Amino acid sequence: MQDVILTGDRPTGKLHLGHYVGSLKRRVQMQNSGKYEKIYIMIADAQALTDNADDINKVRNNISNVALDYLACGLDPAKATIFIQSQIPELCELSFYYMNLVTVSRLQRNPTVKNEIQMRGFKQSIPTGFFCYPISQAADITAFKANLVPVGEDQLPMIEQTREIVRSFNSLYKEVLVEPEAVLPDNALCSRLPGLDGAAKMSKSLGNCIYLADTANEVKKKVQSMFTDPTHLRIEDPGHTENNAVFTYLDAFCKDEHFGAFLPAYANLDELKEHYRRGGLGDGTVKKFLTEILQSELSPIREKREEYAKDLGEVFHMLKIGSEKAETVAAQTLDEVKNAMGINYFKGNALK
Ligand code: TRP
Repeated sequence: MQDVILTGDRPTGKLHLGHYVGSLKRRVQMQNSGKYEKIYIMIADAQALTDNADDINKVRNNISNVALDYLACGLDPAKATIFIQSQIPELCELSFYYMNLVTVSRLQRNPTVKNEIQMRGFKQSIPTGFFCYPISQAADITAFKANLVPVGEDQLPMIEQTREIVRSFNSLYKEVLVEPEAVLPDNALCSRLPGLDGAAKMSKSLGNCIYLADTANEVKKKVQSMFTDPTHLRIEDPGHTENNAVFTYLDAFCKDEHFGAFLPAYANLDELKEHYRRGGLGDGTVKKFLTEILQSELSPIREKREEYAKDLGEVFHMLKIGSEKAETVAAQTLDEVKNAMGINYFKGNALK
């Protein structure tokens, strides 16, 4: 079978370095490998609305931010179909039929939903749409017959739930839907880049992110503010490189050639770490090095982003074309689904 990829992001903010190492970079590589039959990248605005009904402008205004971040990282509408979820009404229709295949208790047991309900403090006031979003996510994936879904680990329960829906549908009605598989980031570092403050995760709500749209000066200041080793007070003190965000970022981004370019006194990261542990290496030097590395990775992205931002009309046009293409595919699947369920009364399956 030819591989079809679908993945997406909720437009609730600009994308950050965590998204970049955890998923964007990989998507661009997959896109450019030419190995995949089709790649769909979805801006999941309808899913974002499931817990932002009172803040529709946040979702609306971040669609262009996410689209710009995509383009800046190298996603290319000529190779990947980039579209907006809410513009594909077929996804709602599919969700409605899939709802009958999922019990309330199964949704309650979904670990991601459970966790998010807790994080958002919904208690007993869970919006129904939010509670059901795993079902709508199954519609997103199956509408395009995607067999591969590149996501972070936190999304595994969604893929599992999708697989269950596919199996129920196919066995109750007809083999129409494709069972997807998650594609996880290839190393643990990339799946969870810590925040600037050393918190487990970069997250908008914690305000500990470096955004792809940040200026060079913002990046520099943010790196300067990063959490390091609280016991490393004076330069000569021995330091710890574990649980030290600066070193975790270096683990994720640093390559040997960066030393030649920015810090020729060392040959590689092991030497740098060794010196830090021994004492005599200041945080300032390490942070300056990290800043140089991040700037070299981020400045081409930032420049491309600024270029695309000059013509948002063109970006929206790209999204419109992508959404039209996506809708054609989703409509075809919906047709097959309705045929399989016998609810195509006016298409050669008349009621008796
Ligand atoms: N739930 C995903 C997130 O929060 C976004 C998303 C929506 C998605 N639909 C999807 C991801 C389908 C993969 C496939 O990041």
